[in-house]
Parts: sequence; structure tokens; C-alpha cells
Amino acid sequence: MGLFEKAGRLKQLPPYLFKEIDRKKKEVMARGVDIIDLGVGDPDIPTPAHIIDALKKAADDPENHRYPSYSGMAVFRDTVARWCEKRFGIVLDPGTEVLSLIGSKEGIAHFSLAFINPGDIALVPSPAYPVYRVATLFAGGEPYIMPLRKEKDFLPDLDAIPDEVAERARVMVINYPNNPTSATADRPFFSKVVDFAKKHRIIVCHDAAYTEMAFDGYKPPSFLEVEGAKDVGLEFHSLSKTYNMTGWRIGFAVGNAQAIEGLGAIKSNIDSGVFQAVQLAGIGALKGDQSCIAEMVQTYQARRDLAVKGLREAGFTLTPPKATFYLWVQVPEGYSSASFAERLLEEAGLVVTPGNGFGEPGEGYFRIALTQTLERLSEALERLNKMSL
Ligand SMILES: Cc1ncc(COP(=O)(O)O)c(C=O)c1O
Repeated sequence: MGLFEKAGRLKQLPPYLFKEIDRKKKEVMARGVDIIDLGVGDPDIPTPAHIIDALKKAADDPENHRYPSYSGMAVFRDTVARWCEKRFGIVLDPGTEVLSLIGSKEGIAHFSLAFINPGDIALVPSPAYPVYRVATLFAGGEPYIMPLRKEKDFLPDLDAIPDEVAERARVMVINYPNNPTSATADRPFFSKVVDFAKKHRIIVCHDAAYTEMAFDGYKPPSFLEVEGAKDVGLEFHSLSKTYNMTGWRIGFAVGNAQAIEGLGAIKSNIDSGVFQAVQLAGIGALKGDQSCIAEMVQTYQARRDLAVKGLREAGFTLTPPKATFYLWVQVPEGYSSASFAERLLEEAGLVVTPGNGFGEPGEGYFRIALTQTLERLSEALERLNKMSL
């Protein structure tokens, strides 16, 4: 065995599906092509000024230079509880039902270490944010794929999960508004999930990273709004997309006290909490003027409208999203996700994410992230129109 032979948990990871497109992107860039990157889900808009000011002020205070509390400052957890009550009408005990996270990705990834034993099943959606599956594998668990299909509005078909699988499952992950399909879920679906989880004794993890990025007045619900949800689950929230704070690394988990305690126990052995100045900036975001969210929504809504119209005119099939800054578009006949993404790059200098990169059930789609200005999006659509598809 070589000195730096990787551990089994790394070797079991699937090949990185974006490797080929990354290589192509570099090759096309080297030719001097003006690339329009619609691949990454990272807002191109800066963090609102009042949040930056809160960070600057907090960074000056030596009180904030020391190790923070593992579970988050009391004032941060209080603010989160109040925000959740105001936004979703859910009541949380900030002492036991709220936990600060170094971004929601961190919490989602560590959660499996707290509750999955080797051989346990985790029910994970696909196509999906890859962390759910990988975190299960890292914990020695077995991911059981719940395919998200257009015919079922990109919701998992709980009736299709065999009883023997449900009996071995410890955790189910769901994510609405959804990345990459941009699908949304309503309260009746969440109630069905609660019933299923109670019947089979499964912990529900709801990834709620996109609840504030919704259009046309739609307000996505929290999983915890439905009766009994707090008995079976918890929810992961993020400030990343809501306040254009992806680089700041702050999020929070809310929900069942035992679930929060388990996650907190893992975290306290791995990390040492969120920099207090960042937590204080997070408080500035959650408590401050929320008109920045309305502005963010307006920006993406205008981009969505432009892109949906343009794509449809160019002959593409897609459902206009009610939430998230993603468009989940069917590839034209005769292409795979990968071959079409490659053609867009080669012929139009457009980077999109092939759907199969989010899991095999994503085959036949590509994802566009609306993280470019209206001008750049128009340019992208013009280039698409020039292609003969
Ligand atoms: C569905 C989903 N969950 C979680 C995250 C992670 O967000 P954070 O920046 O809070 O770690 C992302 C980021 O892209 C995401 O798309």
C-alpha cells in the first residue's frame, strides 16, 4: 500500500462527473472564447451593506476573537428562533432546538455521523445536492435512492419504497425548494413524510436552503410547520442564498432536540463553532431590514422570466420555477445530458451542469443557474438561438 493510499471512504466515492466538463471548459477558455458560466449556484450579487457593517463592527471587538460557543451564541440562537417564528409560525426552544452551523452543508454532512451506523440505510433523493449521499457513505451507511421524476412533480414516491428498505432506514433526506429540479413541496407532502417517518421510525432531515428565494409571492413552507414534524425531524437553513453570504459560512439547524443534540455532539468533537463576528453579522441579517430579500427575489425573478421565455422560444422544455435560481431543462432529442452540455460549451461557450452529475435520475436534463446579469443571460440566449438544435 502506498504511503498516501486513500482510505476506503474516499475510494468508494463515484468518479467526479464534472471532471470532463471542467477539462473542456479550460480548453475552450484557452482558445480565448468568452465563456458564460451558468453552472455554479453561487450568487453574483454582493452581501447587503448593513450585514458587512455588522461584521466590521463585531470584528473590532476582542470579545469576539476567542473560541465561540459550540452550539452558537445565545443571542444568535434566540434570533434564529424568533426569525423562524415570524417567518413560519414555528415555536422553538433556542436552548435545545437551535444549533449554529458553519454553513448548512457542514451540518448536513455531519448529521449522518451522529445517527447512521454502518449498514444502516439513508433514503436520499436523486438528482440531488451530492452531500446527502456522500455523507451517508462516509458514515458507513447505505444510500437508498429515491428518484425524483417529472411525473411525480419531482417529489419522492414514498409508496414505492419497499417495506424492508423502510425498516432498515434511519434517515430520510428531503430538500424543497429543490436543487437541482427547482421543484417545491406543499404541506400535505410534508405531512405524508411525517406519517411515513412515524410508521417506520425514520429521522427526517429537511434541507431548506432555498426557502427565501421564491417568486410571484410564493412563500415556501417549513417542514416543521406540519403537525408532528418536530417529533421526527429537523431542518437545515442557510444564510448563503437568502442574504448572498455563501462565502461567510453560516447556517443553522432547527428541530427535534435529540436530533440537535446528536449533531451538536459530533460537531463539538470536530469544529469549534462559528466565528462570533460572523454570528453577529448573521443576527444583523436575520433581524435587519428584510427588503434586501425582496430585491434579491426581484433580480432572480426578472432573470427567470427572461431565461424561461428565451429557452422556450429556442424550443426547450422546462417548467418555470416557483423558487430557487435554477432552471431544470430537458435536453433535446438525441442527446445525453453530458453530450448536450459539451455541445453548448463547444459551440456557444455556455457552461451548464449536466443533470446526471446530480445522480443518474437527472439524466436527460441540464441545470442552468441564474447567476449572470440580464445582459449576459440575453447574450447566452442569443447564442443558443444561433445553434441548430
Ligand atoms: C440544496 C443545497 N443545500 C445546501 C447547500 C449548502 O449551503 P451552505 O452555503 O449553507 O453550506 C446548497 C448550496 O449550494 C444547496 O444547493
